Formats: sequence, C-alpha cells, structure tokens
Amino acid sequence: MGDIVLTGDRPTGRLHLGHLVGSLSQRVELQNSGQFEQIFIEIADAQATTDNSGNIQKVKDNVIEVALDYLSCGIDPTKSTIFLQSEVPELSDLTFYYMNLVTLARLQRNPTVKQEIIYRGFNNTIPVGFMTYPISQAADITAFNANVIPVGDDQLPMIEQTREIVRTFNRLYGETLVEPRAVLPKNESCQRLPGTDGQAKMSKSMGNCIFLADSPEEVKRKVMGMYTDPNHLKVSDPGKTEGNPVFIYLDAFCKDKHFKEYFTNQETGKMEYKNLDELKAHYERGGLGDIKVKKFLNYVLQDTLTPIRSRRQEYEQHILEVYKILFDGSDKARKIAAETLGKVKKAMGLDYRNDLELINNQCAKYGSSPIKVEEKKLEAYKK
Ligand code: TRP
Repeated sequence: MGDIVLTGDRPTGRLHLGHLVGSLSQRVELQNSGQFEQIFIEIADAQATTDNSGNIQKVKDNVIEVALDYLSCGIDPTKSTIFLQSEVPELSDLTFYYMNLVTLARLQRNPTVKQEIIYRGFNNTIPVGFMTYPISQAADITAFNANVIPVGDDQLPMIEQTREIVRTFNRLYGETLVEPRAVLPKNESCQRLPGTDGQAKMSKSMGNCIFLADSPEEVKRKVMGMYTDPNHLKVSDPGKTEGNPVFIYLDAFCKDKHFKEYFTNQETGKMEYKNLDELKAHYERGGLGDIKVKKFLNYVLQDTLTPIRSRRQEYEQHILEVYKILFDGSDKARKIAAETLGKVKKAMGLDYRNDLELINNQCAKYGSSPIKVEEKKLEAYKK
C-alpha cells in the first residue's frame, strides 16, 4: 500500500500566514507530487468544540472559512479529500476504545495540552473532552490508515501519543493499526511563524496575524506596523536579523525572483541586493532602514497572497459547491473510517454478528440446539 497523508485544522478562525508556511504550502506540494495514494484533510470541528462548548456558532461559521482558505491555497478536491470531523461518527467510537489504552497521567504530561490549559485559564475547569482530544486525534489519524502526518511542531506530542496508542493496540489485539510519523516543514523559520508583534506565535487571539483573506491594504498596514529589532533606532545603527520577525517572514517567503524584480535598478540593470544574505548583512552592518525592508516584505507578501486572494474570491461566488465538496468528502471519509472501526472491533473481539464460533460455543455451553448453525441462518445478522 502506498503512503497515506492525513492532517487537519480546528475551524476556530480564518487561516493566516502561519498556517500557510507551517502546513498549507506543504500540503499543496505533497498533493501535487502525486506520490501519495490518498490525502485526507480534516476540518476538526468536533475537536474545536472541546474548548468552545459555549460557542458552537463560532466553530460552525469558521468551517466555510477554513474550506475557502484550503481551496484558495491550492488544495484540489479532486486530489485531496476534505472532510468534516463531525460527519464521521466512527471517529468517536474509535476514540472510546483508545481511551482505555492511555493513562490519565500520560494525558496530563502532553506539553501542548498543558500549555493550552494555562493559556485558556482552565485551572480546575478543564473539560474532560478537551483533556482527551489527543486520543481523538489518534482516531482521526488511524481511521484512515494514515502514515504521513504533515504538522507544525506543536502537534508532535499528538503524533507521539498516536504512535503509543497504535503500539499498545497492536500488542494487545494483534497487528491492526498503522503507526504514523510527523512530517515537519523543511524551512526552519516555517515551523513556527512569530506574530507581527514579535510574540512567539501568530495567533488570532493575540491579534498579531496576517490572514490569507486580508485585503492588500490590510496586509500593507500590518507589515509597516511590524515589530523589528527594538535597538535598531537609527538607520545607521547595526541591526539584528536573528529573532527579528521581519527577517523571519522574509526567510519564510522570499525567493530569488523577488530580489530580481524589486531590487534591480531599471537604468543600470544592477541589483542592489541579490539575495536575503546580502540584505541581512547590510542590516547587521548598519545603514539599512526598517521601512525599506518592510516595503520589500510587503512586496513579497502581496506577490504570495494575490493569487490566493483571487482564487478565494472566485470560490466565494460558489459557496453551495464548497459545502458539497465537504459533504462528498465526508461521505468518502466515513466509508473508510467504518472499515477501520470494523477491523478494530474484530481485533478486540467485539464483532458478535460475524462471530460464528462465539455463538456456536455459547449454544454448546447451554446445550441449545444450533451447534450446527448453518451459516445461512447467521447471514441474517451479519453486517
Ligand atoms: N489539533 C490540530 C490543530 O489544532 C487539528 C487536528 C485534528 C489534526 N486532528 C488532526 C492535525 C489529525 C493532524 C492530524 O491544528
């Protein structure tokens, strides 16, 4: 069997540049490489309810936003299956059985969950469902026999948890589930894009995001207001590029063609900077102002976002079709998840309807007649 990819996002807001470098671009690349047997992209609305039980409307409204963002980035529904988690109830069944393979102490050690608890101020009010979402994520992954999981580094603990569940399940009940591995973005500055304010993470709740659906004016305004090196006061001062979000964004997005287009002198044909190393060197030496670098970053980002924005505007005219893509994808996903659930229950010995031996044994135990149950009779009960 070929490699199977699965990944997903919680629909709690529009997707932003952090998602684009952290996962979306890579998904499109994987999709277009043609190297994978199947690609599943889950809109994890059920997972999103684990910390939004009082605000389901928000989750619901963002499903279409996330779907539009996917499609506008180049996820092609004829090549990748986009589906809604809540439309695949088999995932909950799997979660239920996996829950017994994980200790509470193990869940409490999950560093991403720990951080989220602090961040959301849950203290002693942690919903049980929230605490167990890493297990439900293991169901998401294993239901589709996915072995390649492209994610950001904050998701590594979830993949590790999934691997443990798979190993425990297979040890207890026989080789059934596929062990997945995480695939991180190659470019290091892509693994976690900082916010425009210099905070470690771009996050909607911190108001430091550039959204894929932002207008050109919004993008420009956000870029020109970005946090840079706070000690780089005068143009002539030497500046720091390491940890400087403007340069981290350039690392993540700029290509050599941008230097050619933006920094070539029309008259002399000479390039002011040939690549990012030269630009960085000048900034570090002193003599290069933030405004000039930001204007270049704005150019790079507009070039990156323009095709995405225009594809989005096209899909926005066809919302009904976008929902249809989600429902068709969910139907397809559900079939596969049901097969896996069947295998899981069989491995655990919970498939009574197909267990001729069990029924016969119980008949024998009580001396009840159908020791020689003709298989035909049982057919009626088979599922
Ligand atoms: N937890 C992921 C996030 O917050 C979303 C997600 C749900 C996911 N199920 C998944 C990611 C399975 C990868 C694989 O973004």
